[in-house]
Amino acid sequence: MINLPCLPICASKDSFSNTAYLLPRTFEVLLMALRRIYLFTLALVWGCMASSSSQQTAVAPPQDLQITDPGLLGSLDIEWKPPPNVQTFNECTVKYKFEYRNTGDREWKVIFTRKLKFRVGFDLSRTAEVKVQTLLEGQCTNDVEVQSEWIYATFQVPLQGKLESEVQNFHCIYHDWEYLKCTWQPGLLAPRGVHYGLYYWYEGLDHAEQCDDYIQDHGINIGCMLQNLSQAEYKDLSICVNGSAAATLLRPLYATLRLQNLAKPSPPKQLMLSTSTSEELQVVWSPPGGETPPQCLEYEVQLAEEQGKAKAVWASVSTQMETAFTITRVNQSRISCVRVRGRTNNFCADQGFWSEWTQECFSVSREEDKQLFILIPVILSLSSSLIIFMLIGQCRKR
Ligand SMILES: *[C@@H]1O[C@H](CO)[C@@H](O)[C@H](O)[C@H]1NC(C)=O
Ligand SMILES: *[C@@H]1O[C@H](CO)[C@@H](O)[C@H](O)[C@H]1NC(C)=O
Ligand SMILES: *[C@@H]1O[C@H](CO)[C@@H](O)[C@H](O)[C@H]1NC(C)=O
Repeated sequence: MINLPCLPICASKDSFSNTAYLLPRTFEVLLMALRRIYLFTLALVWGCMASSSSQQTAVAPPQDLQITDPGLLGSLDIEWKPPPNVQTFNECTVKYKFEYRNTGDREWKVIFTRKLKFRVGFDLSRTAEVKVQTLLEGQCTNDVEVQSEWIYATFQVPLQGKLESEVQNFHCIYHDWEYLKCTWQPGLLAPRGVHYGLYYWYEGLDHAEQCDDYIQDHGINIGCMLQNLSQAEYKDLSICVNGSAAATLLRPLYATLRLQNLAKPSPPKQLMLSTSTSEELQVVWSPPGGETPPQCLEYEVQLAEEQGKAKAVWASVSTQMETAFTITRVNQSRISCVRVRGRTNNFCADQGFWSEWTQECFSVSREEDKQLFILIPVILSLSSSLIIFMLIGQCRKR
């Protein structure tokens, strides 16, 4: 037996002192902490191994990715089939990450879905690109998301005709939220006897429809008026302007419009100017008529003041949603003109066209003149009575 020097730890129970009791307690706590760290490390290593083993649970990409054109001038149908081994993942959910864009776009649009079919809009004058991958998550993967490889597909409508045969300067304006007016010019390579047609579609129509109210120039269609489009607001409106000429193929033009971003209201109505004090000019008007929602408008107010003989210059004084405004007239000029115009505000659209101006002028000079006219008789009568008074005084002296 080895005789160890007696440490306070091995102090006999009968010679228990406070310090001798505390020390073994500290030791015990230390041991417990060590054991905990050991168990924690073990769990960590186990977890790491488990998750690395789940990363080995590979999943295959979907199959048979297909793009078809239902003839809706921009919307394409995209379909795929589940990966072949999908039944083996009983305790996992299978989802898909579907992305699409037109060639040349920077960003992909992303959709997470459990469906196998989608209809999404493209610009058909460019190549449509789609890609889809399988996402697997659940018990079979230890709740870690496992992604498959991507599969890709592209689509391009047959691009007939030369690019120079496409119509030019295609513009559309949605007037008063009532009718859409689109105009264009014949393409550079437009042959004689060319005939253009405008077709449109939006979600809710069974098939693409043709314009029935063309604008013509020398017998050639150069524009179209479309009424009754309220069902197409806040949706994609797909448009195609194509054409035919004897024995020549023309390149069709494709456009996707957002009506609310093309709205142009009529000018504001009933613009009235008045003054309360000489420094303040009160301006009041009414929203324009038509179907423009009044709450969708903002207004710009401009003021021009005549500075003596200097030419009046328009200066913007306010842009606001209210239909009244008070202008402080710094220069107190004789004539002030105010004009107001409206456009769709950014609560209702991303952009819009300004209406034409509504204008009114206010002349202070006439009021001053009127005051002068009232004063003249008063002054005259006062001065005449003064003269009479003086004459009477003179008479009395005599
Ligand atoms: C307007 O379109 C709707 C369908 O969107 C249709 O039911 C209605 O008859 C149309 N009205 C006119 C005046 O064309
Ligand atoms: C123009 O497009 C419409 C709609 O896709 C189609 O029905 C029509 O045949 C086309 N016309 C020509 C001349 O390509
Ligand atoms: C008032 O007149 C001054 C100088 O004549 C000019 O600089 C200023 O822009 C005018 N203010 C307004 C509101 O027209």
